[in-house]
Amino acid sequence: MPHDVTHDTLAAAATWGDALHQATAWLRDTAASDSPSLDAQVLLAHVTGASRPVLLAYPERQLTPEQAALYADLVSRRANREPVAYLTGHREFLGLDFLTDPRALIPRPETELLVEAALTELRARFEHAPTAVLIAADIGTGSGAVAASLASHEPRLARVYATDISPAALALATENTQRLGVSDRITFLQGDLLTPLPEPVDLLLANLPYVAERDAATLPPDVTRFEPHLALYSADDGLAHLRRFFADAPAHLRPGATLFLEFGYDQRDAVTALAHQSFPTGAVRIGTDYAGWDRYAIVHTSSAHS
Ligand SMILES: C[S@@+](CC[C@H](N)C(=O)[O-])C[C@H]1O[C@@H](n2cnc3c(N)ncnc32)[C@H](O)[C@@H]1O
Repeated sequence: MPHDVTHDTLAAAATWGDALHQATAWLRDTAASDSPSLDAQVLLAHVTGASRPVLLAYPERQLTPEQAALYADLVSRRANREPVAYLTGHREFLGLDFLTDPRALIPRPETELLVEAALTELRARFEHAPTAVLIAADIGTGSGAVAASLASHEPRLARVYATDISPAALALATENTQRLGVSDRITFLQGDLLTPLPEPVDLLLANLPYVAERDAATLPPDVTRFEPHLALYSADDGLAHLRRFFADAPAHLRPGATLFLEFGYDQRDAVTALAHQSFPTGAVRIGTDYAGWDRYAIVHTSSAHS
């Protein structure tokens, strides 16, 4: 921390501008964040209730002593690497507001791409068969981001089953679907991978744990110290969950079903091989994330797409 910024000086900040200046310097100089200015703004917006543009437009506005004290606490926790989404309790995912806390993984932008691919597939299916009754499943639902955004953005989707082995994650996911008004079409099921599914589905989505424990040191402390390990790690080479998932998937699908799977940046070949093993006549398409890494697979299980 630079010698002139401390928890006490920040707690004594009188204006929005002074608070932002101090907090940005603190986060930058401790290298706690790749985006010190953004983090400082998001946390101050959370404390004051003002939007980020308003904060920047009125640096002379006053903070109450209570707001300044709360802000100093939050910035100090961020300097200790706690993720912003756990500090504010919110994260936007596909334009929707999700509650976030340590019961579940913070939803990531690359997972939005997985859901967008599934929405594209759903729209194509409804164009072809407008009255189709389509069923989806989200395996390892965590915060519920995948299941709830799918249901919210595609009201024609009849129902979504969302499973997780963690009752705590399912409790958070339930809160999220209630807030987003889609709980009537989502059924939460606790259990191992696909085991709880009560019927075969048309679309099967999963963002399962895929980090090998030996690679834990490559993850930032924001992740390893704060996010649930149950959401991160998979045995052996990180593929234990996906191996079991692919082995069981064929028994849980309607004819012509499509799978959408997220995986680690170096797992494309292994995942493609697992997909071909389970669906020898299917077709696999690989999608990239914003950085250009291969990060998800779309598996059309019928040969019609190959
Ligand atoms: C990488 S997180 C993904 C969370 C959420 N789908 C998302 O994309 O933000 C993986 C989730 O799988 C769950 N999980 C881990 N092992 C599981 C298992 N054997 N069966 C079902 N869910 C499991 C974890 O609790 C966690 O919520």
